[in-house]
This record gives sequence, C-alpha cells and structure tokens, in this order.
Amino acid sequence: MLTRIKEGELVHLIDKKGKRYQIVLKASISFSFTHGVISHDDIIGLEEGSTVKSSLGEKLVVVRPTLAEYISKMRKGSQIIYPKDIAAILMLADIFPGAKVLEAGTGSGALTMALLRAVGKGGTVVSYERRKEFSAIAKSNIETFFDKVEIAGKEGSGKLVSRDKDVYEGIEEKELDRIILDLSEPWRVLKHVEKSLRNGGILLCYNPTVLQIYKLSRRMDLRYKGVFHVMGIYEVGIRGWEIKERSMRPEHKMIAHTGFIFVARHVDKNIQS
Ligand SMILES: C[S@@+](CC[C@H](N)C(=O)[O-])C[C@H]1O[C@@H](n2cnc3c(N)ncnc32)[C@H](O)[C@@H]1O
Repeated sequence: MLTRIKEGELVHLIDKKGKRYQIVLKASISFSFTHGVISHDDIIGLEEGSTVKSSLGEKLVVVRPTLAEYISKMRKGSQIIYPKDIAAILMLADIFPGAKVLEAGTGSGALTMALLRAVGKGGTVVSYERRKEFSAIAKSNIETFFDKVEIAGKEGSGKLVSRDKDVYEGIEEKELDRIILDLSEPWRVLKHVEKSLRNGGILLCYNPTVLQIYKLSRRMDLRYKGVFHVMGIYEVGIRGWEIKERSMRPEHKMIAHTGFIFVARHVDKNIQS
C-alpha cells in the first residue's frame, strides 16, 4: 500500500497538543502558522506518520485524515450524521460490496462518502437532495475526499448518482437493495419505498426525535401491514476516556443524543397473508 505523501494530497499536520492544521500540498509554496513556516516541499515525498519541523523548531506529525477526521473539518451546509452513527448505520443496514443503495437527503455528504466506500467498486449510491446549494457543498466535499484523501481514489469506491430531486415526489430507481432516509418526514416516502425497494431489501431511517420514529412506525402499522418487518430501533452512545499520568477517566464532554436509527425489512406481503 502506498504510504508516501504526494503533491495534491490533503493532509493534516498535528502539533504536540493535538491541534490540527489541514493543507493541500503544492510544490514550491509554504504553510505559515503561529509557530513558524513549513515548506510543502519538505512534506511531499515523506512517509505518512513522519514528523516535520517548522522554521521555529515546532514539530508536527503528517497524516492523511481518516474519513471521520475529514468529516469533522469539511464544509457543512446541513447538519451531518455523526461518525458514531454512520458506523452503526453501515452495519445495521448491512451495506455490502456491490449493493445498490439510495439515500435521501444528501445534505453535506457525510453519509454518502461512507456508503460509497462500503458498496465499493461495482456498487452504486443514488443520492437525492432537493436543495441545490446543499448538493453543491456535498459534491465538493465528496470530490475532495476521493481525489485528495482516499488512497484508493474514485476507482476504489462505488458509483455516485446525484439527483436534485424531492424524494417525497417519487423514486425513479427500482430493485434497490437498501434505502436510507435522513430527512424529517420519512413516512411520506413509504409509498415509494414499497415500489422501489426489492423484497428482502432494508429500509433505514435516521431521525432525531422519538415523535418522528413513533409516527413512522404507526404509519407502517396502519397502512403497510405485512409490507415491512421492523428489525429494530436503536440509539448509539460512545464515550471517550482520557489517560493521564495520575488518572484514567471518562472525558468531561460527550456527544449525547443525536438520532434514532429505525431499521425495517421489505417483505413479500402475499407470502404472509
Ligand atoms: C440532515 S440533512 C442530511 C445530512 C446527510 N445525511 C449527511 O450526513 O451529511 C437532511 C437533508 O435532507 C434534505 N431533504 C429534506 N427533505 C427532502 C426531500 N423530500 N427530498 C430530498 N431531500 C430532502 C435537506 O435539504 C437536507 O439537506
């Protein structure tokens, strides 16, 4: 696996206190910060994980950001799904290599990038977004990640089909393996999901309030009896710990509630009746 840093890559420089600086490498230019100046030429060609020294003697470690680190620094239009929830979504929706997945809405593209990685080469992610300004932000975030960060590049990930469309009005794709909804009224999409998600396919909805999850499950019970088999409703908690010389304890701050994850399988109504 390639580990040397090339011109054109987006890298993070991390100082001894953990502060990060994000730069895109370009020959013959320099990066200036409060602790001096570093020439990009001194970074290009280094092994990932190497240390560089600024003109004032400050040492920084050079790394390619992980997807979670990239997401935390990228430009946001809408609220993103946090990495802790993205990790769970990939497993709970059972996103597999080669899958055809539809998501709505694209938002800032955080989930889209994780889906593109997970479906891999041969897989497809169709992403609906009704606000053009958000799809433009997502497009730029996604292109930067696969062009400048991900070692495997675009070739190693799934095909992205972006649609500037309102998913409440319909889904044109059929025989989808998975549908992921991160929008405020997922129950309005059920009639389209019924037609577009293949039998055995999985629907996953992500919503911040329990009232939304309640309304979604009531609508499934009342209008789609036997069409969806609920697999589970989840919430993900993660708590960081800090280790110091004289103490080892949970961090003071944590991201507490973000959203609920509702998962259901599309089943053949005729078999059940
Ligand atoms: C919370 S954000 C999605 C964030 C995204 N999952 C991410 O991780 O970056 C919700 C997005 O859904 C879009 N949206 C809401 N209703 C929609 C609809 N009916 N059709 C398409 N997009 C919709 C909004 O414009 C917004 O960008």
